[in-house]
Amino acid sequence: MTEDSKKRIVSGMRSTGKLHLGHYFGVLANWKKLQEQYDSFFFIADWHALTTKFDTTEDLATNVYNVALDWLSCGIDPEKSTIYVQSYVPQIAQLHIFLSMITPQNWVERDPTLKDMAKALRLKGSSESQVSYGLLGYPVLMTADIMMFNANYVPVGIDQVPHVELSRDIVRRFNNIYKTDYFVEPEPLLTQIPLMKGVDGNKMGKSFNNDIKISDDEETTTKKIMSAITDRSRLRRDDPGHPEDCEVVYDYWKIFDSEEKVKEIDSLCRKGEIGCAQCKRELAKKVNEMLAPIRQKRLELAQKPELVREILMEGSKKAQTEAQKVLDKVKEVVRMY
Ligand code: TRP
Ligand code: SF4
Repeated sequence: MTEDSKKRIVSGMRSTGKLHLGHYFGVLANWKKLQEQYDSFFFIADWHALTTKFDTTEDLATNVYNVALDWLSCGIDPEKSTIYVQSYVPQIAQLHIFLSMITPQNWVERDPTLKDMAKALRLKGSSESQVSYGLLGYPVLMTADIMMFNANYVPVGIDQVPHVELSRDIVRRFNNIYKTDYFVEPEPLLTQIPLMKGVDGNKMGKSFNNDIKISDDEETTTKKIMSAITDRSRLRRDDPGHPEDCEVVYDYWKIFDSEEKVKEIDSLCRKGEIGCAQCKRELAKKVNEMLAPIRQKRLELAQKPELVREILMEGSKKAQTEAQKVLDKVKEVVRMY
């Protein structure tokens, strides 16, 4: 396949802090594969971070940097993908304005993922609990992110699909109003990804303090895994266990080791021949082994902040060049030049 005939993908991640294993298995491992096949644009969505964190910006820049470190150490490769920061590509903001003019208000108000976000904010009851004009425009900004590079596919998790559906509608409306077929209606690219729970059995997330960060050290990782919930009916080490009721540790084994190993753990557990503490200790060792090269790379990169910054600047420059072409086209069809 020649460079030109490659289909294009765009995806982003909000910069809200250091990434955890849920991000790794849910998103980054997938991107790493996709970058081999697609013309890939991956960006750090710092404007989207602002939609809910507008009054806590002291970490904004550090978060961008940390996300970049996590991506690069996990194998998102600037030689293969265009890696950039959303706010470094001002064309996206301009396109967002154009799109905001043609998007009916009730389209965004219907977006179920946005409704969930608004509900979560109200529950918090903080100064950020108001749904701002910017938050309402969340899916419109996402449309700008995608349309800016005329992407064919958008690799996302299931929760983001309503946004991408809305993006399709907005792009179609744009094409209709301005009588063009230049802009691609993007499709979500869903992949089978294991949902990774936090060590307490809830959804993995830093606010629950149940997450294992890519950047955690071995000791922290081991401690977190040792604290994981297991089959609660097991009181003594030689009680027969029920792996199917051990939703964290047993599921992690499935993610981190081979089918044979999972069968072995299953059998040892059922016969009461392995204690939960030992099981978790072995698992922690396995997890640390898998993460060791990633963490090593992260430590090395952290020694070279200028290099990381340069990668982001280079990628953003490349993205700007592409974006400007599309923006020129937008202005041409809107007849604003
Ligand atoms: N909303 C996405 C998330 O929270 C991040 C995102 C912003 C995105 N713009 C995007 C994803 C464009 C795909 C395409 O995960
Ligand atoms: Fe879970 Fe392992 Fe304990 Fe079995 S032995 S219940 S799989 S932690």
